[in-house]
Amino acid sequence: MTRDEARKKIIFALDVDSMAQVEQWATLLADKVGMFKIGKQLFTSCGPQVVRSVRERGGEVFLDLKYHDIPNTVAMATLAAARLGVTLCNLHALGGYEMMAATRSALDQEFSPGERPKVLAVTILTSSTAETLKGVGINLPVPEMVVKLAMLAKSAGIDGVVASPLEVSLIREACGNDFLIVTPGVRPSFASVDDQKRIMTPADAVKGGADYLVIGRPIAAAKDPVAACEAIIDEIMAI
Ligand code: C5P
Repeated sequence: MTRDEARKKIIFALDVDSMAQVEQWATLLADKVGMFKIGKQLFTSCGPQVVRSVRERGGEVFLDLKYHDIPNTVAMATLAAARLGVTLCNLHALGGYEMMAATRSALDQEFSPGERPKVLAVTILTSSTAETLKGVGINLPVPEMVVKLAMLAKSAGIDGVVASPLEVSLIREACGNDFLIVTPGVRPSFASVDDQKRIMTPADAVKGGADYLVIGRPIAAAKDPVAACEAIIDEIMAI
């Protein structure tokens, strides 16, 4: 793998809540990581301008808003994200086949192939346990639900999933090699574990089949964030 291929696998989680911080991180890391993840807190605080700000600094964006609503609403929200120029966005597979298929179809009507963002599905949130699922009337074990929803997403034209590193091989097996898998919860060998419980190193996650890694604090909290990116790239390249 080339250095650039390894760099492109890193999605830096912009877990901040001001435009000033976004501008600083995007300027510092635009050519050190592959993408910037903008989540609900940042987007709700700063609005679509935050996407434009990252794009203007040369960064690509994963808009992590996890849409879950009636099919038309999710399709239109995804189109709005696409028009902002995001590279990746996502929705909840629990919204069902029709919601996901309507989203894909709306994108295909407006964008030529290769120009639309890739849409990822969240299967079961990694914060959910078997008990959580039981509480909402789902009696299947978590891994079975994850695979079932990943396959449903694929059949609806969704491009991939966000998944725990520990679920990657199951999903790969069920959905094949052209299905994107994005994993948070990775910790480079030099970084602290923080509050993450089920972790893997970036190299192991990529070895296991992850296409992209979402990484926040191991970069943001490092004394030298650029050096941390380079060290992560080295780890990925060493596999
Ligand atoms: O700082 P850290 O590397 O733990 O950040 C990981 C990012 O991925 C955060 O934005 C977090 O919300 C997100 N995430 C996660 N675990 C999940 C889903 C998302 O850590 N299961």
